[in-house]
Amino acid sequence: MYSSTARIFSAGIFYSLIIFTNQKYTPDWDSLDKRSLPSWYDESKIGIFIHWGVFSVPSFRSEWMWYSWKGDNPNPETVAFMEKNYPPDWTYADFAEQFRAEFFDPYEWADILEASGAKYVVLTSKHHEGFTLWPSKYSFNWNAMDVGPKRDLVGDLADAIRNRTNITFGLYHSLYEWFHPLFLEDKKNEFKTRYFPTMKTIPELYEIVEKYKPAVIWSDGDWDAQDTYWNSTGFLAWLYNESPVKDIVVVNDRWGSGIMCKHGDFYTCSDHYNPGHLVTHKWENCFTIDKNSWGFRRSAKFSDYISIEELLKELVITISTGGNVLINVGPTAYGKIAPIFEERLRQMGSWLKVNGEAIYHSVPWKYQNDTINSNVWYTASKDGQSVYACLLVWPNSTSEINLGAPVTSASTTVSLLGSSGGPLNWRSGGASGGIVIDVSSVKIYSLASDWTWVFKMQNIRSSKATVVDKEDYENY
Ligand SMILES: *[C@@H]1O[C@H](CO)[C@@H](O)[C@H](O)[C@H]1NC(C)=O
Ligand SMILES: *[C@@H]1O[C@H](CO)[C@@H](O)[C@H](O)[C@H]1NC(C)=O
Ligand SMILES: *[C@@H]1O[C@H](CO)[C@@H](O)[C@H](O)[C@H]1NC(C)=O
Ligand SMILES: *[C@@H]1O[C@H](CO)[C@@H](O)[C@H](O)[C@H]1NC(C)=O
Ligand SMILES: *[C@@H]1O[C@H](CO)[C@@H](O)[C@H](O)[C@H]1NC(C)=O
Repeated sequence: MYSSTARIFSAGIFYSLIIFTNQKYTPDWDSLDKRSLPSWYDESKIGIFIHWGVFSVPSFRSEWMWYSWKGDNPNPETVAFMEKNYPPDWTYADFAEQFRAEFFDPYEWADILEASGAKYVVLTSKHHEGFTLWPSKYSFNWNAMDVGPKRDLVGDLADAIRNRTNITFGLYHSLYEWFHPLFLEDKKNEFKTRYFPTMKTIPELYEIVEKYKPAVIWSDGDWDAQDTYWNSTGFLAWLYNESPVKDIVVVNDRWGSGIMCKHGDFYTCSDHYNPGHLVTHKWENCFTIDKNSWGFRRSAKFSDYISIEELLKELVITISTGGNVLINVGPTAYGKIAPIFEERLRQMGSWLKVNGEAIYHSVPWKYQNDTINSNVWYTASKDGQSVYACLLVWPNSTSEINLGAPVTSASTTVSLLGSSGGPLNWRSGGASGGIVIDVSSVKIYSLASDWTWVFKMQNIRSSKATVVDKEDYENY
């Protein structure tokens, strides 16, 4: 349980570091769950997810293309696509030769990520296909150095990010591989044998931690087997006690069937998780700019990409309810982040330049959304001095914004971030609280940002007595 209502409001850095260096974790969830979250993660709020691999070559259907072609329940469209366009003896492994990354400039990626305003990045070091983007000792001839790009894609991106930006570098890693013979052997033995984790998964995890020192390990592909099969708690105890990233690393919750949403530094619960109410254990909403895929899709239509308005809505709701966002882009096999993804990221960055004080380092307020205005979501500054009302839709034909949750006093001030017009006039909403903000003086065309407007309120209280309502607690 995230016992952190108090911690959220007290400066956590020193406190957390002292705990990390003194504590020894034992390989069980009781002990691992006692670790406090390294403060950088909650303060960062925004990360970028990158799904890149051999699946970026066919870039058909999704990053699950191989499985949809050769898995248990083949998808007819994928089968037909392969029959029509490839010779009958073509194998998935043949795509790896065509993964060339010939236009991959990691410094260009670093610049785009920096411009997005994101504070961390998570790259798929290895997806369920098993192809490692680094020269793994445990992935003979099925890695980016031996086949395809002929370079260490993980190392090259890590260097560029670290040399050029302050963005924190993290890695996604899939525990299972759809078609690895050792995994299939263990599966046939109902996971009573552990050939695959012993010879593949676990050595690989140690290898990426020691070599690239990722501050995020975003585990996935855990669901077929128990955490005991993966020896997840054994790995995590080493990670937290002894690894080179022990004081800064954060991990998600995908470490074996039944573990998701119960254990881990932050919860993901499902892809696109965004419950719309406060979740008191730190969590993350991973979602993707192409609504239908994490990997690049050549057949994607314009309408398949989320708009900047949709992206900011997702972002604001997530952060006001205690989450981080991890926003996905799927680069091409030739190594480019396509302009539509780049545009969304740069738009987000331009919004954050104006409104970042409502996002980074913020904490949930007593209310997450307003009681009468369904287009408003709140955040607050850590010191409690400022409350931010994020307005998703600017209303038509009115000069007033009505909010139900804030309680004003004579010293209340209200301003609109990115407006040069100075403080706004307001009046109390009535005896039971609320505020009516006068926006008649705001010239929308002169604002520094075109979407999701943020009102900063100071010397404001809420009509709620406690920080968190009992029913807001998740029953994990
Ligand atoms: C970037 O970082 C790596 C590793 O720290 C280093 O070897 C390299 O010289 C740095 N500079 C450039 C321009 O890549
Ligand atoms: C990184 O952070 C340091 C310390 O806050 C700062 O001086 C530096 O300018 C930052 N670099 C970039 C590229 O933002
Ligand atoms: C699990 O991992 C720990 C830590 O690396 C190790 O000591 C232990 O032997 C492993 N257990 C199994 C069953 O592999
Ligand atoms: C917003 O707040 C109200 C309570 O004021 C609640 O009933 C509602 O479910 C909340 N969530 C959304 C998504 O509107
Ligand atoms: C404002 O008016 C436009 C054009 O009539 C309409 O498309 C839009 O949905 C309206 N917005 C709101 C918040 O009512």
